[in-house]
Amino acid sequence: MKQEKILIIGAGGQIGVELALALRNIYGTDNVVASDIREAHPLLKDAGPYAILNAMDGQAIHSLVKKEGITQIYLLAAVLSATGEKDPKRAWDINMNSLLQTLDLGVQEKLTKIYWPSSIAVFGPTTPTQNTPQQTIVEPTTVYGISKYTGELWCQYYNQRWGLDVRSMRYPGLISWKSEPGGGTTDYAVEIYHEALKHKAYTCFLSENTYLPMMYMDDAIRGTIELMEAPAEQMKTRMAYNLAAMSFSPKEIAEAIQKHIPDFTISYQPDFRQKIADGWPKSIDDSTAREHWGWKNNFDLDSMTADMLLHLKEKLAVGV
Ligand code: SER
Repeated sequence: MKQEKILIIGAGGQIGVELALALRNIYGTDNVVASDIREAHPLLKDAGPYAILNAMDGQAIHSLVKKEGITQIYLLAAVLSATGEKDPKRAWDINMNSLLQTLDLGVQEKLTKIYWPSSIAVFGPTTPTQNTPQQTIVEPTTVYGISKYTGELWCQYYNQRWGLDVRSMRYPGLISWKSEPGGGTTDYAVEIYHEALKHKAYTCFLSENTYLPMMYMDDAIRGTIELMEAPAEQMKTRMAYNLAAMSFSPKEIAEAIQKHIPDFTISYQPDFRQKIADGWPKSIDDSTAREHWGWKNNFDLDSMTADMLLHLKEKLAVGV
């Protein structure tokens, strides 16, 4: 079997950093080229092949793919939900054109696989909110959601029309300590741990009973790699898979933190992100992913909270 060589575009983001580290463990450091528009994240600095690359620069990406003999691309660069609403046309441009260009490159260079993340943001206010099924009403109202759903349709189209092996999943809010989130509506669930350790207080930009689907990064990374390594015949849908692990509200995550930091307090000042959150599912039915390729989460709110606080405490070097 030919040795796979992977290019990650957007490796400096919340998912990219950890995915690059995990893929390097499996495929070997030299076989995973990390790239981002920014300088390398501290965890990727001098830790393997790295390129400064703009996800919109098709020519530069094409040359790199040829030069490095790339066989797989993980395209993670994107403008997320909250940032997207500030400049919708820019979000559409970046999210869509980077994808279409990568899909074309996949066909042209006969890449073995492409990964492109979708999101719970594909769902909208008309979608059933509890246990949202894999196939349901899909009428997103954020530009991020519109671009993700359109992107899913393009991925399916390229698979059906050109046989391109492109895979995707709809991530819930992702919680991580190694890398920082950027521009999402679910980012509060990361900020809250930082603020609990630093200041024992957090003001949340969502209201206390806003339930959203969430997942710990360890599960998300393992799930992504399992999806990519599953035999192609198990990919019985080429739309993105629903994926779930837990659902909680700001009030519940605060209570989970209080088990470790009893004097932690939370207050609420909902802003424009409340409306985005209100249009998304409260919980997700991921039985299709479980059936097709064996997805299973490991972390729940309490185990994630214990792990987050343990690692973040070390990282921030504060003795709580
Ligand atoms: N975490 C993302 C966001 O909040 C959802 O995919 O935008």
